Amino acid sequence: MRELLVVFGLLLAFHLPAGAADDAETTYKAQCVKCHGANGDGTGHAGLKLKPADLRSEAVQKLSDEELYKTIAYGVGHKQYPHAFAERGLSPKQIADLVTYLRTFAKTPKKGK
Ligand code: HEC
Repeated sequence: MRELLVVFGLLLAFHLPAGAADDAETTYKAQCVKCHGANGDGTGHAGLKLKPADLRSEAVQKLSDEELYKTIAYGVGHKQYPHAFAERGLSPKQIADLVTYLRTFAKTPKKGK
């Protein structure tokens, strides 16, 4: 039993340092992919009448971390889809990690347009 506990503890210890990017990717896939698409290009939801922002675009990437945070947490300025993920159960850390994650889209080579 003791050994089991030690093994379990070790597993936990190795699991925890998994980077924020991994967590953010999970959150993004769960909450955002359906509209914004896996690479952030905004084509995740073909059947929807909304036009999700292209998260790789300069218009989005030029926003400050704080603006992006507010956008995701409270949906400031969104007319089509109020994001307000702070009220939908995401923690401040999850939202901050998402902001970091969105920055990785800027480096994705643009396809097509
Ligand atoms: C139901 C579809 C939908 C989901 C889910 C969604 N978005 Fe959006 N998003 C939109 C639309 C539509 C816009 C365009 C702005 C608007 O609503 O008018 C947008 C805009 C944005 C913008 C640009 C904001 C700006 O000020 O230019 C960011 C950043 C963003 N979304 C991030 C996210 C993140 C991160 C998630 C997941 C936590 C998410 N979105 C989930 C539809 C969605």
